[in-house]
Amino acid sequence: MSGVADFVHVVEPAHRPRTPTLLLLHGTGADERDLLPLGRVLAPGAALLSPRGRVDEHGMNRWFRRLREGVFDVDDVIDRAEELAAWVPVALEHHGLAAPVVAVGFSNGANIAAALMLLHPRLLDGAVLLGGGYPLQGREPGAADLSGRAAFLGVGLTDPISTPDQARLLADHLSALGADVELSEHPGGHQVPPAVLEGARSWFEGRFGPR
Ligand code: MLT
Repeated sequence: MSGVADFVHVVEPAHRPRTPTLLLLHGTGADERDLLPLGRVLAPGAALLSPRGRVDEHGMNRWFRRLREGVFDVDDVIDRAEELAAWVPVALEHHGLAAPVVAVGFSNGANIAAALMLLHPRLLDGAVLLGGGYPLQGREPGAADLSGRAAFLGVGLTDPISTPDQARLLADHLSALGADVELSEHPGGHQVPPAVLEGARSWFEGRFGPR
């Protein structure tokens, strides 16, 4: 670790000046192509950097191991977040991608993005965390300084996989560490309805859009 080939990934260069780079982090069973359309909607013209999770769960790509649905192997969360945090700057430099860097994660991807924020607080300028929760289950978040960082969280009130309680816990921890947090709750389940996507898009434009 860490060479650019350590994570299979795709890159789309920026088409607009002064736009951030989006780090796209897919959900369980998806791959590096899954969130490209979402990235294009959230930040038209921004550079997209989209790696594939290196954990194989019965043929499904993930970012870290879990003991069962909803119960994470927290040591693995920490190790995998470290691997990804080491790779991101290498990939940015290799592809000539610019800061700021904003992660966009869905489900398992939102959880690893949250772990990046909590454990590697200088790596990301912000994160859009969709259908995710607090990834360091049963452990305190540590003393990261997230001042100047921003997060948008979207969660479904009937989401059985990533429950609203988990998203609220994550929002509370991020806020307590100084991040500017917006939590958007919707009546649905483990999905990203159009209203949340639009909320994330306008949040993104307000904080990271071209000036
Ligand atoms: C996880 O990280 O395991 C998610 O919360 C659920 C999933 O990705 O299936």
